[in-house]
Amino acid sequence: MSWIEPLIPHIKTAHVGFLAIWVAGLVALPRMLARHDPAIGQSDFTRIRHATHYGYVWAITPAAVLAIASGTTLIFLREVFTGWMFAKLVLVGGLVAIHAWVGHTIVKVAETEGTHEPPGPLLPTLALVAVVVGILTLVLAKPELGEVALPGWLLEPRGGQLPFDVPRR
Ligand code: HEM
Repeated sequence: MSWIEPLIPHIKTAHVGFLAIWVAGLVALPRMLARHDPAIGQSDFTRIRHATHYGYVWAITPAAVLAIASGTTLIFLREVFTGWMFAKLVLVGGLVAIHAWVGHTIVKVAETEGTHEPPGPLLPTLALVAVVVGILTLVLAKPELGEVALPGWLLEPRGGQLPFDVPRR
């Protein structure tokens, strides 16, 4: 593993770069979606619709995949199997949910052209800011979160038997 250690700062830089593109896209796209107003005329509608669609497919989705892939690589290289990291992953789930909502809305706007009420950007932007501030606080302050309280039955062997043989060392 020692040959890969000098690469850690580069992977971290790439991670931060990809997530900057991802988060910037999640700020921009709901604002662009709010401009999908039929009153702007067909050619402007088509232009904005194409820009939203291509931005989603060719910029923010690849950036999201690469941010998650580089982050997952960093977990193993930096061995951060810690409480704050798992809390961060829960919040990243929130970011993925906002991403999916944006994609869903882009498809809805495309398929209901002329009748669709464009959603306002305020709510998704507020949700995004809350999630990103939470993630950055966790990742930069790295708070000591202690053990997650789990019920006893999850922590003790239950004496069950797997339906196949497990090789013993
Ligand atoms: C599944 C997704 C993600 C995974 C698995 C992941 C994992 C990681 C890991 C393991 C590190 C290195 C931590 C260390 O060296 O102590 C890191 C750094 C970082 N991550 Fe993520 N991350 C993910 C998504 C995100 C997102 C969405 C954001 C922000 C919106 C973010 C912000 C950061 C920042 C700012 C750093 C640099 C922290 C530092 O150098 O102290 N990450 N990430």
